[in-house]
Amino acid sequence: MFNMRGVVVLFLPILWLAASHAEDLGSSRFTEEFAKQENIYRSEGEQVVAGYTVDRALSTYAEGLTSDFDRALAALGPTDRWLDIGAGKGLAVLDYYTAAYDRTHSEGRERRATKAQAVAISIEDRRTPLWQVIAAKLGANQIQYLSGKRLREYSLEELGRFQVITDVMGGFSYTDNLSGFMEKVLGLLELNGSFFTVLQDVHRQDGSNRPFYAGSPFLTEIVNVDGSEMKVCSWLKRITCVEVACESKAQWEPPVEAFRIRKICSDVTVPGVTPVHYQAGTPTEQRFQLVN
Ligand SMILES: C[S@@+](CC[C@H](N)C(=O)[O-])C[C@H]1O[C@@H](n2cnc3c(N)ncnc32)[C@H](O)[C@@H]1O
Repeated sequence: MFNMRGVVVLFLPILWLAASHAEDLGSSRFTEEFAKQENIYRSEGEQVVAGYTVDRALSTYAEGLTSDFDRALAALGPTDRWLDIGAGKGLAVLDYYTAAYDRTHSEGRERRATKAQAVAISIEDRRTPLWQVIAAKLGANQIQYLSGKRLREYSLEELGRFQVITDVMGGFSYTDNLSGFMEKVLGLLELNGSFFTVLQDVHRQDGSNRPFYAGSPFLTEIVNVDGSEMKVCSWLKRITCVEVACESKAQWEPPVEAFRIRKICSDVTVPGVTPVHYQAGTPTEQRFQLVN
């Protein structure tokens, strides 16, 4: 039903600038990069920046996220809720409501019945006529599309809580406030709910990969106070009250690491990081430093 290109191409980043990666960034440099990034979000029609993919299918989500994602989504019942952060055109959400989805996910079909409620959020409104048609057909706020704000600008009261949260090349890949982003996501998760996300061109936990582009850093990096590396998976594992699984998709180019973060108790503390490098792109290139 939906156009689906090869996974390799779908995850390929187009770096926006060939800027020096070692520069000492002043705030004006950040402002410049934020403005460029805003133009990427707002690009439309023929002008959509190459590499800014907004139409991944749910099957692509399932391939890119940890291997238990497909089953976790299929297990949701009609009183459960799914949040897709950085939903683009919302095709993954629409796919979930198709008859084809039920045909290929027979396990749990009875229980799903009318299915979980889904909320898609995106900075820019990329809803299509197809979204409008399906939303009207499903009715009763079964699917919602929220835009015009970033995740951090929503309150818990506005969004409510969710059993499953996904982010495929959305806010987690683009945020300049990684720890704030994680705090927000974990605050929106129900106990025992899971956040499924992915990063491309990141130093995987097994340490076996090099940056995809020679001479460039990984797209997302975290360093300790002394400048030594902390892998993203290790950083996630330092969050309290969560269980973290990191899965490498070694066959993909650029390499991809998928993360499942399950909230197991309420007293969540995320180790703080601050941005020390941010370069606009699809996705952005960023480095964070632990604050203590
Ligand atoms: C490259 S598109 C990915 C779209 C979709 N997940 C897909 O795979 O087709 C990036 C999406 O993330 C959204 N996004 C980026 N940062 C965000 C944030 N902090 N809060 C909400 N949405 C964000 C953008 O507005 C856009 O919808």
